[in-house]
Amino acid sequence: MKEKFYLTTAIPYCSGKPHIGNTYEVILTDAIARYKRQRGYDVFFLTGTDEHGLKIETKAAEQGITPKEFVDGVSDKVKEIWALVGASYDKFIRTTDDYHEKAVAGIFKKLLDQGDIYKGQYEGWYCVPDEAFFTDTQVTDGVCPDCGRPVQRAKEDAYFFRMSKYADKLLKHMEDNPGFVEPEARLKEMINNFLKPGLQDLCVTRSSFTWGVQVPGDEKHVIYVWIDALSNYITAMGYTVDEQGELFKKYWPCDVHVIGKDIVRFHTIYWPILLLALGVPLPKKIYGHGWLNFGTDKMSKSKGNVMYADELAQLFGVDGVRYYTLSAMPYSSDGSITYDSMITAYNSDLANNLGNLVNRTISMNKKYFAKVVPAPGADEGTDGELKAAVAEACKKAYECMDGYKVSDALYEIFTMLRRANKYIDETTPWTLAKTEEGKARLATVMYNLLETIRIGAVLLTPFIPETAGKILAQLGTDVTSLEFGSLESGKETGEAEVLFKRIDEKEFYEQLAAMKGEPAPTENEKKETDNKMEEVKDTAEVVEEAVKEYEPLAETCAFDDFVKIDMRVAKVLECETVPKSKKLLRFKLDLGFETRQVFSGIAKYYTPEEMIGKKVVMVANLAPRMMKINGVEEESNGMIVASGGHSPDAVVKVLFADPDAPVGDRIS
Ligand code: MSP
Repeated sequence: MKEKFYLTTAIPYCSGKPHIGNTYEVILTDAIARYKRQRGYDVFFLTGTDEHGLKIETKAAEQGITPKEFVDGVSDKVKEIWALVGASYDKFIRTTDDYHEKAVAGIFKKLLDQGDIYKGQYEGWYCVPDEAFFTDTQVTDGVCPDCGRPVQRAKEDAYFFRMSKYADKLLKHMEDNPGFVEPEARLKEMINNFLKPGLQDLCVTRSSFTWGVQVPGDEKHVIYVWIDALSNYITAMGYTVDEQGELFKKYWPCDVHVIGKDIVRFHTIYWPILLLALGVPLPKKIYGHGWLNFGTDKMSKSKGNVMYADELAQLFGVDGVRYYTLSAMPYSSDGSITYDSMITAYNSDLANNLGNLVNRTISMNKKYFAKVVPAPGADEGTDGELKAAVAEACKKAYECMDGYKVSDALYEIFTMLRRANKYIDETTPWTLAKTEEGKARLATVMYNLLETIRIGAVLLTPFIPETAGKILAQLGTDVTSLEFGSLESGKETGEAEVLFKRIDEKEFYEQLAAMKGEPAPTENEKKETDNKMEEVKDTAEVVEEAVKEYEPLAETCAFDDFVKIDMRVAKVLECETVPKSKKLLRFKLDLGFETRQVFSGIAKYYTPEEMIGKKVVMVANLAPRMMKINGVEEESNGMIVASGGHSPDAVVKVLFADPDAPVGDRIS
């Protein structure tokens, strides 16, 4: 029998269209769900909408409609966006669903009857948007400790939950189960900042509005939106205090609640205590992911920097959005999204690394073997290395996914794809095709490439399912084994089709403006953009315009972010001046595993003769840039590290590596 795996997203407030941050969470949970299904689990994936509370009541009143009419509209929008991004959920719960409201009332009554909830009076600081009360010690400068907005003094009759009664039990559970909350730092924060100082009783009703589940037998009060919302994880599965449905019996305890960092406290303290009081086993894990910010800013309507998945999908395609959000969000810190970074990732990872690899491979196989998958011969040259890279990627991607390190899993898969691209450069199939003897070898090379992209597609299925499906269709196979050699020889592949059309930055911004209903860039604005492009074309220009003062230290960079920069020891194989450019030198650099062309704006400071044979430090994973060199578009693929580019008098000095440093070694 299959092992079960039950996972949930937080249910977003039904107060407006979800933005890309909320949508990221469902994409992330979906990737985990698809991965678990691929690994043979019997998965149940729950999501939904949180539909009660003052904010919704107020918004509906502003629009002159009932709260139910309001949430019906928003909930449909949420479903539409979830469907667009391919969320493969099994159930969508709405907290206005009748069965849920009844179950929540039942839960409240049980807790009241057994004395865990009692009636008292509440006075404190109230945050209207968060619908949360805070104590004097929690509030400084009159603002909400959670959202930073102003709080007001408020007093009301209310029901309280005796949180402290269960605090020790929960603390012990957390100490005995360090994997209960991930990342571990969030667990420590909960223990040290909330559990150890002692929990106060929690106010679990409101009487300042009516849009919520009524307290049984006391109509003036509605149940606190968090008690209502958190219960969705069990009511959706058929739990009531009187009887438990089949889904609940089969899938509870939940294997992972995937939520954002801001609501970790609700999920790791209030929710487990509620379950302890009900006598229901605790969830196995709560994973609190970071936030997706616009650049380094929090997304907010007032800043006008909110991005939506449906708009992004029009620009980058659904898998472009899925790929970017999943790869840009580290396991434990925040991620960043901007149009520029999306274009770069799209062009270099999806269009170049993945798309070109698939396209070239399928096209070459058509040309050389009339679409038939050839039978491989014995390993030669770097075949073993390629196979080892594939095996390594499979192993590491699985390990990462098991540890919720989703962006790292993608990184491993894309490293494998880069290795396959290099394999094409090493084996040069077009040369092999020229001779009969070469053709036998070509069969092996093509088989290895086809097999690598098949395995790549299988590994990519949880992340970019539509593209993975297209790759398998182009390969004409549905074999999903990760065993190298499973692709059947003798079968026909499909036709090569472009998976990701390269995005032209200028056209992109025009399309974006049109989409947003803004005027298309004027001729002058276009010129400005062109001028900016010129700057990129000749990097030395940038050096000349360098700031006249020492640059202030850049913002602190998390270690996780620093290690994303891959610097390598590279040997200068060739170096030449660029006709008509006083600044540029054209380099051919040996990275050990591949050679790269790089343009560097150091012609004023070094001659080609001085550079040839030297070892330099190169940023090897910088997205390639197109530069216009004497009217021809050329790629600069990497950057030579030098000092002085930004200093007042711009004395540029290349950072040479030790002559004994092995080529290709990573610098850290
Ligand atoms: N309704 C509550 C959750 C109740 S769960 C029983 C809520 N809703 S929310 O709409 O504010 O947030 C929904 C989810 O989206 C939360 O997990 C939240 O952390 C997440 N995110 C909100 N903004 C986000 C980003 N900018 N980036 C990533 N996730 C973000 O909280």
